[in-house]
Amino acid sequence: MPPRKIIIDTDPGQDDAVAILLALASPDEIEVLGITAVAGNVPLALTAKNARIVCELAGRTDVRVYAGCDKPLNRALVTAEHVHGKTGLDGPVLPDPQMPLADGHAVDFIIDTLRAEEPGTVTLCPLGPLTNIATAFRKAPDIIDHVQEIVLMGGAYFEVGNITPTAEFNIYVDPEAADIVFKSGKPIVVMPLDVTHKALVTKPRNDAFRALDSKVGNAVAEMTDFFERFDKEKYGSAGAPLHDPCVTAYLIRPELFSGRRVNVEIETGSDLTLGMTVADWWGVTNRAPNALFMGEIDADGFFTLLTERLARL
Ligand code: BDR
Ligand code: CA
Repeated sequence: MPPRKIIIDTDPGQDDAVAILLALASPDEIEVLGITAVAGNVPLALTAKNARIVCELAGRTDVRVYAGCDKPLNRALVTAEHVHGKTGLDGPVLPDPQMPLADGHAVDFIIDTLRAEEPGTVTLCPLGPLTNIATAFRKAPDIIDHVQEIVLMGGAYFEVGNITPTAEFNIYVDPEAADIVFKSGKPIVVMPLDVTHKALVTKPRNDAFRALDSKVGNAVAEMTDFFERFDKEKYGSAGAPLHDPCVTAYLIRPELFSGRRVNVEIETGSDLTLGMTVADWWGVTNRAPNALFMGEIDADGFFTLLTERLARL
């Protein structure tokens, strides 16, 4: 099978960085057509810079990185420096990128790329707020036909929320954008907190990254060390959840994950529950399923895959 063509839409973010590294380390399964940066964990100038730092870390200065939307569709930007640090990529000391940003806006890149590819052949992989993707869908609805699938990190059902008691960060930051994407009619695979909170970077897993004894292995160990300090304190768990790499791991080994096809609606009205992913997990409505909402992960299999692939960079 030829590799799957993907666009990674991202707000790096240490876990975004690991997701990108996993994709770039897996050319047999994944062809990265480009990376589009969006404002999220930190403002756009930093996410666009961090995406290039990660490409350079992987030795892939050929990957095109575009800057996209600098704020949500209808709201002020909410960021997460309290988790990711001031730069968004705190932890390792990595050089400023030498590679320039690609010319043009990320939204136009998404539109032009989808139009240039056959219908149903490009997978979108959003790892941050859905502003770029929703803007592209609104500006050029014809491109939706060219999407094969949307595999995203966002939302929660049993775990409910991380940025508010009822909302996960990526959906909360731009709920109107999420609403557009979930109503797009395309197949969606959701990696919610229910899954990612089981993908914990425990000490032995972090040691395995470090034991690679490579630039990439050390950087990933230091990145995950950094955001552990926040998550361990918050959840009292054995390690921090590695959210976004669940998306790229799914493209390589989907059998590591299981879930249910359910209806998912996004709360955009209530102040109290803004950004909640209302997933009909128990099938109590007659709303048509619009997403494969994951619930379980083979965490050992996931970390084995990740470590093996990082060793290739
Ligand atoms: C999501 O929010 C960000 O902080 C992470 O990068 C991840 O995409 C988890 O809620
Ligand atoms: Ca992210």
